[in-house]
Amino acid sequence: MKDSTHIIHTKAGRGPRNTVNPAVERGSTLLISNRQDLYGDGKVYGRMGLTVHRELEAAMCALENAKHTRLAANGLQACALAIGAVLKAGDHILIADSIYGPTRRFCTRRLAAMGVKSTRFSPTHSADLEGLITSETKVILLESPGSLTFDICDTPAIVELAQRHGLITLMDNTWGAGVYHRPLDLGVDISIQALTKYAVGHADAMGGAVMTNSDKLATKIAACSEDWGISLGPDDAYTALRGLRTLHTRLKQHEATGYRVANWLSERPEVASVLHPGFESHPEHALWKRDFSGANGLFGVILNKVSETKLDAFLEAMKLFAMGFSWGGYESLLIPCCDQLNRMKTDPIHNRPGPILRVHVGLEDADDLITDLEQAFAAMAAAD
Ligand SMILES: Cc1ncc(COP(=O)(O)O)c(C=O)c1O
Repeated sequence: MKDSTHIIHTKAGRGPRNTVNPAVERGSTLLISNRQDLYGDGKVYGRMGLTVHRELEAAMCALENAKHTRLAANGLQACALAIGAVLKAGDHILIADSIYGPTRRFCTRRLAAMGVKSTRFSPTHSADLEGLITSETKVILLESPGSLTFDICDTPAIVELAQRHGLITLMDNTWGAGVYHRPLDLGVDISIQALTKYAVGHADAMGGAVMTNSDKLATKIAACSEDWGISLGPDDAYTALRGLRTLHTRLKQHEATGYRVANWLSERPEVASVLHPGFESHPEHALWKRDFSGANGLFGVILNKVSETKLDAFLEAMKLFAMGFSWGGYESLLIPCCDQLNRMKTDPIHNRPGPILRVHVGLEDADDLITDLEQAFAAMAAAD
């Protein structure tokens, strides 16, 4: 069975009247008839999740080839849960420099307050990583492709290094979405997804998920989730579960339109380079080809030198592309992201000629999106 069939037929979660989808129970209190069951091991309270949560967990396990899934209210919380579960005061974590900014902030601010040290490393220089490992190092945190710069790390090499040193590897797999990339299959210990993006796919709900094949790590993640009181609302869980059934089909379209728009952009005189791991010109294209089975609609663009006035004219002239945070929905988004960049001094991104943009290509027609960008570039040219 192909993955796209499997995700539709796995644990279909029939409702009580044999409906195709599970019922959404909205409840905090579960009424329990036996006194013994009140304090048993069961799921006895809404925070522990209800039917729809169990179905979403099962579907996420199928998607990521995982044994265990724990849900969270959003992607950042899922990252914090996975990281918090495997560290304690006195430990040290190595964080890839291109992880999602708020996750990095969690490491440098919250973990620091909890007595955990963090050190950044260049995701594309895994050979240098070994030198950063100390006797306190417990965890390596990865995201591939990295946020904003779309660099790909050599995951199998980093996993091999981690295993040699007894370290736990974590990866934010939101871009690969479990469709184009399965970190657990590459030996990563914990995979994390912001369900808010492609799983939900319609920009109308938030969610996060933490996956592992290790019983020991799953127990730690469950304990951390209990301690931090982490839960996901049933309507958001339902929305994410529904999104998984169409994920493969939507991603194929995001991918195809994404390539059309990225190729067109790469030919424009205003564009210095396109940051898309599927492009042969991408520095880690070979790693991407080896470890991923496809791309989605999210990539970066570096413009040539341009004035702020011209950049504003371009951004404000867009009609189909909108400015807004997040990605993975059906609508196209484009944001300037220099303000979010926070990279080590040695990162080549500092040598770029102009601003960096993040493009999310939605499900609109590629010709319409290109026409929109063309008129926005014309507005840029006309501005002084
Ligand atoms: C790669 C990545 N991970 C995690 C998150 C956080 O997800 P959420 O917005 O659901 O907290 C984001 C959000 O943009 C993201 O891009």
